[in-house]
Amino acid sequence: MSDRVVLAYSGGLDTSVAVHWMGEKLGREVIAVAVDVGQGGDFEAIRQRALAAGAVEAIVVDAKDELAEEFVVPALAANALYEGRYPLVSSLSRPVIVRHLVAAARQHGATAVAHGCTGKGNDQVRFEVGTRALAPDLEILAPVRVWGMTREEAIGYAEVHDLPITISRERIYSIDANLWGRTIECGVLEDPWQAPPEDVYALSVPTSTEPVEVTIGFDSGVPVSLDGERLPVAQLIDRLQRLAGATGFGRIDMIEGRRVGIKSREVYECPAALALIAAHVDLEGLTLERDTAHEKARLEPRFSELVYDGMWFSPLREALSAFMASTQRFVTGDVRLRFAPGGGMTVVGRRSPVGLYDYKLATYDEADAFHHEDAEGFVRLFGLGVKTWAAKQGGAAAAAGAGGAAGAAGAGTSAEPGTTKGSS
Ligand code: ARG
Repeated sequence: MSDRVVLAYSGGLDTSVAVHWMGEKLGREVIAVAVDVGQGGDFEAIRQRALAAGAVEAIVVDAKDELAEEFVVPALAANALYEGRYPLVSSLSRPVIVRHLVAAARQHGATAVAHGCTGKGNDQVRFEVGTRALAPDLEILAPVRVWGMTREEAIGYAEVHDLPITISRERIYSIDANLWGRTIECGVLEDPWQAPPEDVYALSVPTSTEPVEVTIGFDSGVPVSLDGERLPVAQLIDRLQRLAGATGFGRIDMIEGRRVGIKSREVYECPAALALIAAHVDLEGLTLERDTAHEKARLEPRFSELVYDGMWFSPLREALSAFMASTQRFVTGDVRLRFAPGGGMTVVGRRSPVGLYDYKLATYDEADAFHHEDAEGFVRLFGLGVKTWAAKQGGAAAAAGAGGAAGAAGAGTSAEPGTTKGSS
């Protein structure tokens, strides 16, 4: 038995060529693992294609619920948006795939795992760092990064070796998809000034002309129902993707800073992800105590960066997730979203059985139960430091002609009447 390698197999040109190439050039037996993360496609056909390309074994894993429950839910708890905009579609699926590569390697006695990433992207980082974390003993092969074939040459290789591929000669876009959204790169999009042509979009093609309203129910930060119907997370996302996408909502067009130092133009469509994050943020507004909410908002960008950088399996990501999880205990309730035809979305209502909104405190009407007399002393002490500063060094001192460095020094040397008593 030659050394076995488990390859993350997508069914596309590069990974099909990789199956054959690793056999021919490296003398390896290839086990192809295709992971269903909600990208769609005929997985039996993909399995057969891997075998036809020379794989000794081809495995299909359904990881949709795993992706939704173990990766998307924690990301949603952290309102995760890389650089404030990208909901980490590809970044979240790679650690799931890594898990299954490692499991297959153990099961089939493989000594290596392989991926079909190029040297320019983030996905290679996610595959390799993830594998190092879960299985440091496994060798990692990156055939596409080392073989130096152009796309034309890879197609030529497939033709010479009679590999079944389903690709046309001109490469239009590079696409990655899963249940959290769809990423589109390359082609005309490489000119950041060019508007994306309509044909890049698949999940956010507007078909409805009426506004659509949906209610998302959350239970401790987890989206659990849509318009009152309880659904497993993966199904809820899928349902919402269709509803929101049909209004044209969910598009992102951005220049992004990759981990490897390249700025790239990225187009995403993530109707469900953006809608759920907006709803979740809003419900946190109602249910999270102020200091906790503010601290959480400071940690969210760090969480997103770590996940983007391939550090899902890392102590800091786990620690941040533990913090996020502890904040989610009371993030329970409903949020109403309204999608306008043409891609606009607004949160129009929210409610929670454990919300911190207290009508009797907030109202300006008769029901008002707020102690107005408490405000006076509170505000006076709150502003005391600034008042002192203003008198000695700032605005009031300057207005009194004592401004500037000389004035400030002067104020420090002569005691002012009325400010010397300790009781003020
Ligand atoms: N820029 C995004 C990211 O790094 C999308 C990557 C898409 N991956 C792909 N193999 N097409 O997460």
